[in-house]
Amino acid sequence: MSTLKIRPRRLRRTENIRAMVRETCLSVKDFVYPIFVVPGENVREEIPSMPGCYHLSVDRAVETAKEIAALGIPSVEVFGLPEYKDEIGSSAWDMKSPVQRAIAAIKKAVPELVIVGDVCLCQYTSHGHCGRLCEHEVDNDGTLPLLQNVAVSQALAGADIIAPSDMMDGRVAAIRDALDSKGLTSVSIMSYAVKYASGYYGPFRDAADSAPQFGDRRGYQMDPANVREAMKEVSLDLAEGADIIMVKPALAYLDVVRLVRDNIAQPVAVYNVSGEYAMVKAAAQNGWIDEKRIVLETLTSMKRAGADIIITYHAIDAAKWLKE
Ligand code: PBG
Ligand code: ZN
Repeated sequence: MSTLKIRPRRLRRTENIRAMVRETCLSVKDFVYPIFVVPGENVREEIPSMPGCYHLSVDRAVETAKEIAALGIPSVEVFGLPEYKDEIGSSAWDMKSPVQRAIAAIKKAVPELVIVGDVCLCQYTSHGHCGRLCEHEVDNDGTLPLLQNVAVSQALAGADIIAPSDMMDGRVAAIRDALDSKGLTSVSIMSYAVKYASGYYGPFRDAADSAPQFGDRRGYQMDPANVREAMKEVSLDLAEGADIIMVKPALAYLDVVRLVRDNIAQPVAVYNVSGEYAMVKAAAQNGWIDEKRIVLETLTSMKRAGADIIITYHAIDAAKWLKE
């Protein structure tokens, strides 16, 4: 007779038993798919450091938006490369820029798709920093009115959610004020509240041509060594009116995701960033890992850590795999 009374393996015996006791369920409804829009027409060029991701002109971005909606993915986040750059990044709020035109065109073609507009200046400034400069420093308060311009222009184009990624202090309140004063009270703010100064953004900066021309972003993005400071940023952004809180990057910061999830009532988003994506792609292309397995395991871990929303370049592949 066996002396073992408790046997955890009983609940792992068959796929259906495992499904009955599964604690975390990854769904296509968790995903936001980021796209990069560029000037021109009929452009669809693969981004070298992000295989499977493309620079898309507005017309081809609409095509991609239709594809992701058909897969059941609820949302797209729009990034852009402008036609011109200057000291203050004024193409970021030009209604004729690719981002504003893409937002309007996608809203028209696929009205149910939730459009997130990334609000920052680094793709649009000649120096590549996320705000305007004063001497050799990023001028916090002088940048806020510019971010207000960007947010309002994207909301007027049709964005449902404004996502500031610049890490200036006070930007959530400034953007909320600007939106409300234009009557855009139903546009939400998803704040990149906890955004670390990370090496994992490398491929994105190539893709978006947004690397700083001097120095780095440590003067405004968070120190990867800090976690109490994450709660400070979250509290501030919630007090300023953020509707959704984001932690970024995702994989190396799942402890932070769990902490935030356990301490607030608002939805938590994670950004599975370009470097995380590129590492998986490179290893998969070498045949060193099973891409499907690794991606679904990683995305499930983000959900398990407490994320409600996952912004990921794997969204299209993962949506297809979840259907199989
Ligand atoms: C711009 C911005 C960045 C990312 C999103 N918005 C890069 C940065 O802060 O340098 C990173 C996204 C990614 O790596 O996938 N502020
Ligand atoms: Zn930026």
